[in-house]
Amino acid sequence: MANRGGFSSKLGFIMAAAGSAVGLGNIWKFPFEVGAGGGAAFLLMYLAFCFILCFPVMVTEIAIGRKTQLNPVGAFKALGYKRWSIIGKMGILSGVLILSFYNVVAGWAFGYFIEMVMGNFEVGGNFGEYITNVFKIGGYAVVFMATTAYIVSKGISAGIERASKILMPTLFFIIIGLVLYSFTLPNAFKGVQFYLVPDFSEINLEVVFNALGQAFFSLSLGMGALITYGSYVGKKDNIITSAAFITLADVGIAFLAGLMMFPFVAYLTEGTMEGAAQGPGLIFAVLPGVFQSLGPILGVIVGSTFFLLLSFAALTSTVSLLEVPVTYVVDEHQVKRSRAVWAVALTVFLVGLPSLLGNGAVEFFTSFVTYPSGETKTFMDLVENISSDTFLPLGGFLISVFAAYVWKKENLHEEISSGFDGFKTSLIRKFLDVTISYLCPIILGIIFILTVSQKFFG
Ligand code: PHE
Repeated sequence: MANRGGFSSKLGFIMAAAGSAVGLGNIWKFPFEVGAGGGAAFLLMYLAFCFILCFPVMVTEIAIGRKTQLNPVGAFKALGYKRWSIIGKMGILSGVLILSFYNVVAGWAFGYFIEMVMGNFEVGGNFGEYITNVFKIGGYAVVFMATTAYIVSKGISAGIERASKILMPTLFFIIIGLVLYSFTLPNAFKGVQFYLVPDFSEINLEVVFNALGQAFFSLSLGMGALITYGSYVGKKDNIITSAAFITLADVGIAFLAGLMMFPFVAYLTEGTMEGAAQGPGLIFAVLPGVFQSLGPILGVIVGSTFFLLLSFAALTSTVSLLEVPVTYVVDEHQVKRSRAVWAVALTVFLVGLPSLLGNGAVEFFTSFVTYPSGETKTFMDLVENISSDTFLPLGGFLISVFAAYVWKKENLHEEISSGFDGFKTSLIRKFLDVTISYLCPIILGIIFILTVSQKFFG
C-alpha cells in the first residue's frame, strides 16, 4: 500500500478529516448561504441536518473505508456489491466538479492575502471588478491547483495536516477575536438578531435544498472523501468519537464565522442588513472594510493573517478533494501516482475555467442558465447546485440505503465495534439504526425528488 500514502496515527486521521471538512465551506460559503437563506431559519435547519442526517452518514462512510481499505469505487466492489460502486463513481465526479470551482475561490482568498499585505483595503468595495481580472485570479488559481497537486503527488499530506494542528487553532482564535470585536460595533445587535432569531416564513424548498447541500458540503460527505480517508484508519480507533469530533469542530467553526459576519454586515449597513443576501462575494466584500477599521498596522496584520489562514484551510480541503479521484485512478487503473495527480489536476483546472471566467469577465458564463423559477445563474452556481446541493445528498441517500438494506446493519455494527467495545448495547447504536434505516433514506429521498423536479424542471 506504499503508494497510497497513509496516516501514521489516529490523530493523523482526525486532523486530515477535520482539515478536509474545515475550509471555504465554513468561512466563505456558510455565511453567504445563511445570508441568502434569510438568517436564523437557515441556521436551524443546517444544524438539524448536520447532527441528525450527516453525522450517521459520516460514521458509515468511515466504517466502509476502514472495512475495505479502498477508494470509494473499489470499496463497494470489495464488499461484493459491484453495482453499488456507482456511488463511488458519482462521488469521483462530484469531487472533480467541486474542486473545479473551489479552486477558483481558493485563488480569490489567496489573492486577498496579497492585497491585505499591501494594505489595499479598497479591494472589498471593488470585489466585483477584482474577480473579472482574469490574469490575476487565473494566476492565483494556477498557483493554488499546482500547490495542491504537488502535495498530493508527494504523498506529503501528513506534513500538511501536522502544520494545520497549529494553524487551525490560530484561525479559530482570530475568528473568536473578530467575533468579540464585532460585538463592540454599532448595530451589532441587529446582526446577531438576524443570525439567531428565526423567522420561519423565510423557509421554502430552496432554503431546505441549500441548507442540506451546505451540510453535506461542509462535512465533506456524500462523495466518498471519508471512505478514502477512512481507509487509512486503524482498527483500534473509535469511529464514533472521531466522527463526533469532526462534526463538532466543523459546525463550531461555521457557527462562529456566522456570528462574526452578521454583526459586521449590520455595522457596515447601519443595521439594514442590505447585501446580506449578495451571495458568493459576501466575505470578500465585507471583511476588508472591517480590517481597515482596525487601523493601518493592525488591519494589515489581522487581515493578511486571516486570509493566509483561510487559504491554508482551503488547501487541506483541496488536497482531500483531489485525493479522491487520484486514489481511484491509482488503485483501479494502476497508473503511477505522480502521473495520475497531474493529469487529474489539469483536467479539473480546465473544467473550472468557465467558473473562473463566469463572474463578470465573460458574459456567456456569467448569465449561463435560467432555471424554470426564472433565476439566472452563473456557470459556477450551476456546477455548485449540481455537485454539492444535488449529488452529495444523493450520495448520502444511497450510502444510507446501501448500509441499512444491502450491506446490512449487522456488518456496520461489527465494523464500528472494533475500537468501541460497548457499541452494540449503546444508545448511539439505536440512534444510528433509526437514522440510517429510516430518517436518512426518507428525508434525503423526499428532498431529492422535490428539488430536482422543481428546481431543474420547474
Ligand atoms: N468541506 C470542505 C469545506 O467546507 C469542502 C469539501 C467538500 C471537501 C467535499 C471535500 C469534499 O471547505
